[in-house]
Amino acid sequence: MSDVSRPSPAEPRTEARTAVVIPAAGRGVRLGPGAPKALRALNGTPMLIHAVRAMAASRAVSLVVVVAPPDGTAEVKSLLDAHALPERTDFLVVPGGDTRQESVRLGLEALPPDHDIVLVHDAARPLVPVDTVDAVIEAVREGAAAVVPALPLADTVKEVEPTTAPGEPEPVVATPERARLRAVQTPQGFDRTTLVRAHETVTGDVTDDASMVEQLGERVVVVPGHEEAFKVTRPLDLVLAEAVLARRRLNDGF
Ligand code: C5P
Repeated sequence: MSDVSRPSPAEPRTEARTAVVIPAAGRGVRLGPGAPKALRALNGTPMLIHAVRAMAASRAVSLVVVVAPPDGTAEVKSLLDAHALPERTDFLVVPGGDTRQESVRLGLEALPPDHDIVLVHDAARPLVPVDTVDAVIEAVREGAAAVVPALPLADTVKEVEPTTAPGEPEPVVATPERARLRAVQTPQGFDRTTLVRAHETVTGDVTDDASMVEQLGERVVVVPGHEEAFKVTRPLDLVLAEAVLARRRLNDGF
Protein backbone atom coordinates (compact mmCIF):
# COMPACT_ATOMS: atom_id res chain seq x y z
CA MET A 1 0.00 0.00 0.00
CA SER A 2 1.41 3.44 -0.89
CA ASP A 3 1.54 6.34 1.59
CA VAL A 4 -1.09 8.17 -0.47
CA SER A 5 -3.71 5.43 -0.08
CA ARG A 6 -2.98 4.83 3.61
CA PRO A 7 -6.00 5.87 5.74
CA SER A 8 -5.66 8.94 7.95
CA PRO A 9 -5.86 8.26 11.71
CA ALA A 10 -9.55 9.27 11.77
CA GLU A 11 -10.62 6.58 9.27
CA PRO A 12 -11.16 2.88 9.99
CA ARG A 13 -8.24 0.58 9.11
CA THR A 14 -10.14 -2.65 8.76
CA GLU A 15 -7.59 -4.33 6.45
CA ALA A 16 -4.47 -3.17 8.32
CA ARG A 17 -1.88 -5.74 9.39
CA THR A 18 -0.63 -5.63 12.96
CA ALA A 19 2.93 -6.01 14.24
CA VAL A 20 4.04 -6.01 17.88
CA VAL A 21 7.30 -4.59 19.23
CA ILE A 22 8.30 -6.12 22.57
CA PRO A 23 11.02 -4.12 24.36
CA ALA A 24 12.83 -6.76 26.42
CA ALA A 25 16.27 -5.21 26.79
CA GLY A 26 15.98 -3.96 30.39
CA ARG A 27 18.12 -5.37 33.20
CA GLY A 28 15.24 -5.39 35.70
CA VAL A 29 17.37 -4.34 38.66
CA ARG A 30 14.32 -3.86 40.94
CA LEU A 31 13.69 -7.60 40.67
CA GLY A 32 17.04 -8.32 42.31
CA PRO A 33 20.32 -9.69 40.89
CA GLY A 34 20.31 -12.29 38.11
CA ALA A 35 19.47 -12.64 34.43
CA PRO A 36 17.82 -9.78 32.49
CA LYS A 37 14.22 -9.53 33.68
CA ALA A 38 12.64 -10.80 30.46
CA LEU A 39 14.66 -14.01 30.67
CA ARG A 40 13.64 -14.87 34.25
CA ALA A 41 11.42 -17.93 34.47
CA LEU A 42 7.75 -18.00 35.46
CA ASN A 43 6.70 -21.58 36.11
CA GLY A 44 9.78 -22.75 34.22
CA THR A 45 9.15 -20.64 31.08
CA PRO A 46 10.96 -17.31 30.49
CA MET A 47 8.78 -14.25 31.06
CA LEU A 48 9.56 -13.13 27.50
CA ILE A 49 8.11 -16.34 26.04
CA HIS A 50 4.91 -15.79 28.02
CA ALA A 51 4.75 -12.22 26.65
CA VAL A 52 5.42 -13.36 23.06
CA ARG A 53 2.71 -16.03 23.34
CA ALA A 54 0.27 -13.48 24.79
CA MET A 55 0.76 -11.32 21.67
CA ALA A 56 0.79 -14.17 19.15
CA ALA A 57 -2.47 -15.44 20.72
CA SER A 58 -4.24 -12.67 18.84
CA ARG A 59 -5.15 -13.80 15.32
CA ALA A 60 -4.72 -10.19 14.18
CA VAL A 61 -0.98 -10.20 15.00
CA SER A 62 1.18 -11.37 12.08
CA LEU A 63 4.64 -10.27 13.28
CA VAL A 64 6.35 -9.99 16.68
CA VAL A 65 9.64 -8.08 16.94
CA VAL A 66 11.54 -8.82 20.15
CA VAL A 67 14.07 -6.18 21.21
CA ALA A 68 16.69 -8.16 23.10
CA PRO A 69 19.48 -7.11 25.48
CA PRO A 70 22.35 -6.05 23.13
CA ASP A 71 24.52 -8.92 24.38
CA GLY A 72 21.63 -11.40 24.42
CA THR A 73 20.31 -11.46 20.85
CA ALA A 74 21.54 -14.99 20.09
CA GLU A 75 20.16 -16.27 23.41
CA VAL A 76 16.72 -14.76 22.70
CA LYS A 77 16.70 -16.21 19.17
CA SER A 78 17.41 -19.69 20.50
CA LEU A 79 14.75 -19.27 23.21
CA LEU A 80 12.16 -18.46 20.54
CA ASP A 81 13.31 -21.50 18.54
CA ALA A 82 13.08 -23.74 21.60
CA HIS A 83 9.47 -22.87 22.53
CA ALA A 84 6.28 -23.69 20.67
CA LEU A 85 4.82 -20.58 19.02
CA PRO A 86 1.95 -20.16 16.53
CA GLU A 87 2.93 -20.90 12.91
CA ARG A 88 0.87 -18.02 11.52
CA THR A 89 3.09 -15.45 13.27
CA ASP A 90 6.56 -14.28 12.13
CA PHE A 91 9.25 -13.47 14.69
CA LEU A 92 12.24 -11.13 14.51
CA VAL A 93 14.92 -10.39 17.13
CA VAL A 94 16.88 -7.11 17.16
CA PRO A 95 19.35 -5.69 19.72
CA GLY A 96 18.03 -2.99 22.09
CA GLY A 97 19.41 0.27 23.44
CA ASP A 98 20.22 2.05 26.69
CA THR A 99 16.66 3.22 27.38
CA ARG A 100 13.23 1.70 26.79
CA GLN A 101 12.49 4.50 24.33
CA GLU A 102 15.59 3.68 22.29
CA SER A 103 14.77 -0.03 22.37
CA VAL A 104 11.28 0.65 21.00
CA ARG A 105 12.72 2.89 18.27
CA LEU A 106 15.14 0.13 17.22
CA GLY A 107 12.21 -2.29 17.08
CA LEU A 108 10.20 0.11 14.91
CA GLU A 109 13.14 0.50 12.51
CA ALA A 110 13.17 -3.27 11.99
CA LEU A 111 9.51 -3.42 10.88
CA PRO A 112 8.85 -4.38 7.26
CA PRO A 113 6.63 -1.87 5.39
CA ASP A 114 3.42 -3.93 5.20
CA HIS A 115 2.20 -3.36 8.77
CA ASP A 116 0.07 -0.28 9.43
CA ILE A 117 -0.78 -0.96 13.07
CA VAL A 118 1.92 -1.35 15.72
CA LEU A 119 1.50 -2.50 19.29
CA VAL A 120 4.22 -1.91 21.85
CA HIS A 121 4.17 -4.43 24.69
CA ASP A 122 6.49 -4.72 27.70
CA ALA A 123 8.06 -8.15 28.14
CA ALA A 124 7.52 -7.39 31.82
CA ARG A 125 3.73 -7.84 31.36
CA PRO A 126 3.76 -11.54 30.47
CA LEU A 127 0.16 -12.43 31.37
CA VAL A 128 -2.00 -9.94 29.50
CA PRO A 129 -5.13 -11.77 28.23
CA VAL A 130 -5.77 -11.95 24.47
CA ASP A 131 -9.08 -10.09 24.85
CA THR A 132 -7.17 -7.01 25.99
CA VAL A 133 -4.78 -7.29 23.03
CA ASP A 134 -7.73 -7.61 20.64
CA ALA A 135 -9.56 -4.66 22.22
CA VAL A 136 -6.53 -2.42 21.67
CA ILE A 137 -6.16 -3.53 18.03
CA GLU A 138 -9.87 -3.04 17.43
CA ALA A 139 -9.77 0.55 18.72
CA VAL A 140 -6.84 1.38 16.39
CA ARG A 141 -8.66 -0.30 13.49
CA GLU A 142 -11.66 1.88 14.23
CA GLY A 143 -9.54 4.99 13.71
CA ALA A 144 -7.77 5.95 16.95
CA ALA A 145 -4.14 7.07 16.44
CA ALA A 146 -3.09 5.79 19.87
CA VAL A 147 -4.81 3.43 22.31
CA VAL A 148 -3.79 2.49 25.84
CA PRO A 149 -5.33 -0.16 28.09
CA ALA A 150 -5.70 1.15 31.63
CA LEU A 151 -7.44 0.52 34.94
CA PRO A 152 -8.92 2.81 37.61
CA LEU A 153 -6.73 3.21 40.69
CA ALA A 154 -7.34 1.57 44.05
CA ASP A 155 -4.97 3.93 45.87
CA THR A 156 -5.29 7.68 46.24
CA VAL A 157 -2.32 9.34 44.51
CA LYS A 158 -0.33 12.30 45.91
CA GLU A 159 1.97 14.51 43.90
CA VAL A 160 5.02 15.33 46.05
CA GLU A 161 8.13 17.46 45.91
CA PRO A 162 10.65 14.58 45.80
CA THR A 163 13.57 14.77 48.23
CA THR A 164 16.92 13.23 47.39
CA ALA A 165 17.63 11.79 50.86
CA PRO A 166 15.97 8.35 51.26
CA GLY A 167 13.36 8.27 54.05
CA GLU A 168 13.17 12.09 54.31
CA PRO A 169 9.49 13.26 54.53
CA GLU A 170 8.34 14.66 51.18
CA PRO A 171 5.99 17.67 51.03
CA VAL A 172 2.67 16.97 49.25
CA VAL A 173 2.03 19.32 46.35
CA ALA A 174 -1.39 18.09 45.16
CA THR A 175 -3.95 15.28 45.32
CA PRO A 176 -5.38 14.64 41.83
CA GLU A 177 -9.02 13.50 41.79
CA ARG A 178 -8.74 9.70 41.84
CA ALA A 179 -11.81 9.09 39.68
CA ARG A 180 -10.06 10.85 36.77
CA LEU A 181 -6.84 8.82 37.02
CA ARG A 182 -5.98 5.57 35.23
CA ALA A 183 -3.03 3.19 35.67
CA VAL A 184 -1.70 2.53 32.20
CA GLN A 185 -0.67 -0.88 30.89
CA THR A 186 0.53 -2.38 27.62
CA PRO A 187 0.08 -3.39 24.83
CA GLN A 188 -0.38 0.17 23.63
CA GLY A 189 -1.61 0.34 20.04
CA PHE A 190 -0.75 2.89 17.35
CA ASP A 191 -1.25 3.97 13.84
CA ARG A 192 2.30 3.17 12.69
CA THR A 193 2.95 6.49 10.94
CA THR A 194 1.96 8.40 14.09
CA LEU A 195 4.20 6.31 16.37
CA VAL A 196 7.19 6.61 14.04
CA ARG A 197 6.69 10.39 13.89
CA ALA A 198 6.50 10.50 17.71
CA HIS A 199 9.80 8.62 18.01
CA GLU A 200 11.43 10.96 15.46
CA THR A 201 10.13 14.12 17.15
CA VAL A 202 10.00 13.62 20.92
CA THR A 203 13.38 13.49 22.61
CA GLY A 204 12.54 14.01 26.32
CA ASP A 205 12.40 11.18 28.83
CA VAL A 206 9.09 9.30 28.80
CA THR A 207 7.81 6.16 30.52
CA ASP A 208 5.37 5.09 27.82
CA ASP A 209 4.90 5.46 24.07
CA ALA A 210 1.45 7.00 24.21
CA SER A 211 2.80 10.05 26.04
CA MET A 212 5.06 10.72 23.05
CA VAL A 213 1.99 10.75 20.82
CA GLU A 214 0.28 13.09 23.31
CA GLN A 215 3.26 15.44 22.94
CA LEU A 216 2.59 15.56 19.19
CA GLY A 217 -0.87 16.90 20.07
CA GLU A 218 -2.59 13.75 18.78
CA ARG A 219 -5.59 12.28 20.59
CA VAL A 220 -4.86 9.23 22.73
CA VAL A 221 -7.72 7.08 24.03
CA VAL A 222 -8.01 4.58 26.88
CA VAL A 223 -9.73 1.20 26.69
CA PRO A 224 -10.30 -1.10 29.68
CA GLY A 225 -7.13 -2.86 30.84
CA HIS A 226 -6.96 -6.10 32.82
CA GLU A 227 -5.72 -6.95 36.31
CA GLU A 228 -3.62 -9.79 34.84
CA ALA A 229 -1.74 -7.30 32.63
CA PHE A 230 0.25 -6.07 35.67
CA LYS A 231 3.97 -5.36 35.30
CA VAL A 232 6.41 -7.75 36.95
CA THR A 233 8.73 -5.30 38.66
CA ARG A 234 9.48 -6.46 42.20
CA PRO A 235 10.06 -9.94 43.69
CA LEU A 236 6.45 -10.13 45.01
CA ASP A 237 5.15 -9.67 41.45
CA LEU A 238 6.82 -13.00 40.52
CA VAL A 239 4.78 -14.72 43.24
CA LEU A 240 1.58 -13.11 41.95
CA ALA A 241 2.40 -14.07 38.35
CA GLU A 242 2.94 -17.72 39.31
CA ALA A 243 -0.36 -17.66 41.23
CA VAL A 244 -2.16 -16.35 38.13
CA LEU A 245 -0.62 -19.15 36.03
CA ALA A 246 -1.63 -21.75 38.65
CA ARG A 247 -5.22 -20.42 38.61
CA ARG A 248 -5.28 -20.58 34.81
CA ARG A 249 -4.07 -24.20 34.87
CA LEU A 250 -6.82 -25.08 37.33
CA ASN A 251 -9.45 -23.33 35.21
CA ASP A 252 -8.16 -25.01 32.05
CA GLY A 253 -8.54 -28.38 33.77
CA PHE A 254 -4.87 -29.42 33.51
O1 C5P B 1 12.21 -0.71 33.34
P1 C5P B 1 10.80 -0.91 32.96
O2 C5P B 1 10.10 -1.90 33.84
O3 C5P B 1 10.01 0.35 32.74
O4 C5P B 1 10.87 -1.62 31.54
C1 C5P B 1 9.74 -1.81 30.75
C2 C5P B 1 10.11 -2.66 29.55
O5 C5P B 1 11.09 -1.98 28.76
C3 C5P B 1 10.72 -4.01 29.94
O6 C5P B 1 10.10 -5.03 29.15
C4 C5P B 1 12.19 -3.84 29.64
O7 C5P B 1 12.84 -5.05 29.26
C5 C5P B 1 12.17 -2.85 28.48
N1 C5P B 1 13.43 -2.08 28.35
C6 C5P B 1 14.15 -2.15 27.15
N2 C5P B 1 15.34 -1.46 27.00
C7 C5P B 1 15.84 -0.74 28.03
C8 C5P B 1 15.11 -0.65 29.26
C9 C5P B 1 13.90 -1.33 29.39
O8 C5P B 1 13.73 -2.83 26.21
N3 C5P B 1 17.01 -0.13 27.87
